[in-house]
Amino acid sequence: MSIRTNYEKWYEGDDYYWGTEPGSFLDELADLNPPSAGKKVLDIGCGEGKDAVYMAQKGYEVSAFDLTENGIRKTIALAETRNVRINAYVDDINSFDISEQYDIIYSTGTVQYLFDENKADFFRKLEKITRPDGVVFINVFVEKPFLELPPDWDKEEKMWKPGELFTYFADWKFERIDEVIFEDQSGGVPHYHCMDTIICRKIKEYVQTGTDAEKQVICFE
Ligand SMILES: C[S@@+](CC[C@H](N)C(=O)[O-])C[C@H]1O[C@@H](n2cnc3c(N)ncnc32)[C@H](O)[C@@H]1O
Repeated sequence: MSIRTNYEKWYEGDDYYWGTEPGSFLDELADLNPPSAGKKVLDIGCGEGKDAVYMAQKGYEVSAFDLTENGIRKTIALAETRNVRINAYVDDINSFDISEQYDIIYSTGTVQYLFDENKADFFRKLEKITRPDGVVFINVFVEKPFLELPPDWDKEEKMWKPGELFTYFADWKFERIDEVIFEDQSGGVPHYHCMDTIICRKIKEYVQTGTDAEKQVICFE
């Protein structure tokens, strides 16, 4: 069993550490890329599965991975209680290898586990496994000099620079970017996080006319 993250131990019990209510952005993602036959969602760092299960209930074919065996066990259990099926498995954001493509790729609270040397490769992979017109949601904790590290900060987590996440999606259409500071009670001690969020769309088709400087997008949506 993996001992790389404290979450393995925090997910041990029957209670759901993050609860079972879905995240607040999922309906927005579904509006941007509505479910239909064969539409696929990937949840990277799915925890105990609350969001992956919700997307399966909406009608997507859902795959989801997390580093923790306990998280995956509980994701599968939650899917069973909600009468949906999910392809949930243990994998590592630093080394996963996927050849399928997805319509929505979602990762909340997890990319801070990417090692610096894997960041560029991760975003190249993400581009490859997003279907044309597909939508990606990612958020990440960012450092602010006036905020302390959260008390349940994991030994492998790394704060990102404000705005850094957005630089990896320069060629995508931004549907939303924002940065918010919010209070959190996880771990039982109230604390603050600053979080950058991006929702962006992979453009369907580019046609190059003339020089690089004259590149035109002819098929925007
Ligand atoms: C803040 S939690 C978010 C969980 C879930 N997305 C949610 O919102 O409920 C971060 C998750 O990242 C997972 N994680 C940590 N390191 C990871 C890695 N290297 N690869 C994949 N998942 C990892 C943890 O096990 C944990 O479930």
